Amino acid sequence: MASIRKQKIKGKVYYSLIERVKVKSKWRYKTLESYGSKLPEANDIRIIKGFAEEEIKKLPDNSVDLIIIDPPYGIGYDTNFRKDKDKNLGKITLDNEKIFKTFPLVIQECFRVLKDNSALYCFCRWDTLNSFKDIIERYFNIKNNLVWVKNNWSMGDIKGSYAGQYENILFCVKGKHKLNNGRATDILKYDRVAGKSLLHSHQKPLRLLDFLIKKSSKSGDVVLDCYAGSGSTLVSAKKLHRKAIGIELEQRYIKVIEERLGKEPVHKITKNYKG
Ligand SMILES: C[S@@+](CC[C@H](N)C(=O)[O-])C[C@H]1O[C@@H](n2cnc3c(N)ncnc32)[C@H](O)[C@@H]1O
Repeated sequence: MASIRKQKIKGKVYYSLIERVKVKSKWRYKTLESYGSKLPEANDIRIIKGFAEEEIKKLPDNSVDLIIIDPPYGIGYDTNFRKDKDKNLGKITLDNEKIFKTFPLVIQECFRVLKDNSALYCFCRWDTLNSFKDIIERYFNIKNNLVWVKNNWSMGDIKGSYAGQYENILFCVKGKHKLNNGRATDILKYDRVAGKSLLHSHQKPLRLLDFLIKKSSKSGDVVLDCYAGSGSTLVSAKKLHRKAIGIELEQRYIKVIEERLGKEPVHKITKNYKG
């Protein structure tokens, strides 16, 4: 978990973002970003209720530094997890036909609002990957098909199919985009959000989003998520001192996002850090 370090050098205050990492079985602090004497604004988060294909048109050209989208795929699908069902997390009401009608427009608009040399990440699954890819590559250069490997698997057809333990994330760029903090592998291992903490049946883990945001943006940048769901991208962006814009259709999820952002504390400041 990252936190903000506050240091006083020759009477002047300096801030940086640090993370505890394990090196040769010892915990150490690694500096991820240096902010100088002014901590970037972390509260500039906009939540827009409406259709992505309509709302994104209102954003200016070249105004966003990173886009992370998790479109609703699967025909009127419900969650397969027993615990999710018990919590009545609900059914996603959009069908595939609808999403594939509007998705080309959303992608075209994503290309317009994204700054040059910036990235777009799109979550998908093996059975929707080709359809999403065909649309995205009309505008973007698709660099990788990242594989998010989860700690457990979905139920599905228990006897007639293999248990799915991964999802795909298409890593796409507009122009030339350099990844921060060196090269990483295309296999990303992050635990799924545990059933008891789940607020949305397709909620993505903050640690995975933290990783993507840190790789492809810097503090103060604007991150856009057009299908915000429970707002995980926004929570992660806020935590990492980015600005963010989230578009979400359903009022019940807007409420969840507002509650999460309200509750989710901005980094606690680490005062007695000795590097
Ligand atoms: C797969 S979920 C996103 C989950 C999110 N990544 C999270 O961690 O909570 C997709 C979301 O898109 C919303 N949605 C569906 N169609 C939409 C549209 N046309 N415009 C905006 N949001 C939409 C759904 O209500 C759903 O919450």
